Amino acid sequence: MVKKAELHVHLEGTATPELVRELSGRNGATIDPATFGPDGDFAWGTFLEFLTAYDRAAAVILTKDDYRRVTYDYLRRCAEEEAIYVEMFSSPDHAAAVGMSYTDHLDGIAAGIEEAKADFGIEGRIIVTCVRHLGPERAEAVARQVVAHPHPLVVGFGMGGDEGAFEAADFAPAFTHVHQSGLAITSHAGEFGGPTSIRDTLLHLPVQRLGHGVRVIEDESLLQEIASRKIPLELCPGSNVATGLFDNRSAHPFKNLMEQGCVVTLNSDDPPFFKTSIGREYDAAAQHYGLDEAALTQITRNAIAAAFCDDALKEELSSRL
Ligand code: ADE
Ligand code: ZN
Repeated sequence: MVKKAELHVHLEGTATPELVRELSGRNGATIDPATFGPDGDFAWGTFLEFLTAYDRAAAVILTKDDYRRVTYDYLRRCAEEEAIYVEMFSSPDHAAAVGMSYTDHLDGIAAGIEEAKADFGIEGRIIVTCVRHLGPERAEAVARQVVAHPHPLVVGFGMGGDEGAFEAADFAPAFTHVHQSGLAITSHAGEFGGPTSIRDTLLHLPVQRLGHGVRVIEDESLLQEIASRKIPLELCPGSNVATGLFDNRSAHPFKNLMEQGCVVTLNSDDPPFFKTSIGREYDAAAQHYGLDEAALTQITRNAIAAAFCDDALKEELSSRL
């Protein structure tokens, strides 16, 4: 089986409906029954409804040990699919919403990463994210905590949430503060926002990668710029089809972006919400984009090269391919 590496996955968005129901039962945290459909899976329609369902699921992850569980459970599933490295987005705002401190949240995730490494040999690193629609002040508060509490497993800073909210430039103080402390930067752009959102992000935020960035396909000159600057794209085809950006996997521009020289990676984003996994993303890329084992392994090499971890780990991961 091809070895895999993932750079774009939201930790709260990895918890399966079963785990969310279990945590909810155990913690006594009630969850709106509308979070689940008749089949027991997560239920949502539009992207904004997805974000609400995500918040509801996150609201049952209440303790440090819950975050350890969620992290360990996700990395176990990834290891079963031969993933060797996962960079995952943490969201201190979701932890704060249930009364958890920045450091308890981080310690819980780190414990899950260390346990999964010991049990399965999989390596995990953390990218702390802010939530765009909560606004620049919240983002700056998260940024200050990231800088105040350096952690060996935290390798980057990023931003998710509603891309239509605020302007990229509004977040420049938060991103610059973290970047100056030495951490690498990514941000969602070009998912629900078009090429202008990508241009604004490249102009105002010190990003080394783009979360999604898929809508660069709508602007030929921007595409040439991103390809020539070798800015890696954290592409999430299954997510984009699930949220309605593209009708199906064949209509997704993954192959086109790859052929035009973009540095592409494969990612699951919020796997149970989008009925996907890192393994399914690789399998679907083989099926729909005609990628053979060598091409899929090159995608893993792209992810390792674009990863925010240190060079020693990159070399070790490369030697496992
Ligand atoms: N938060 C969780 N998943 C997300 C996505 N796909 N886009 C933006 N924010 C998110
Ligand atoms: Zn995402």
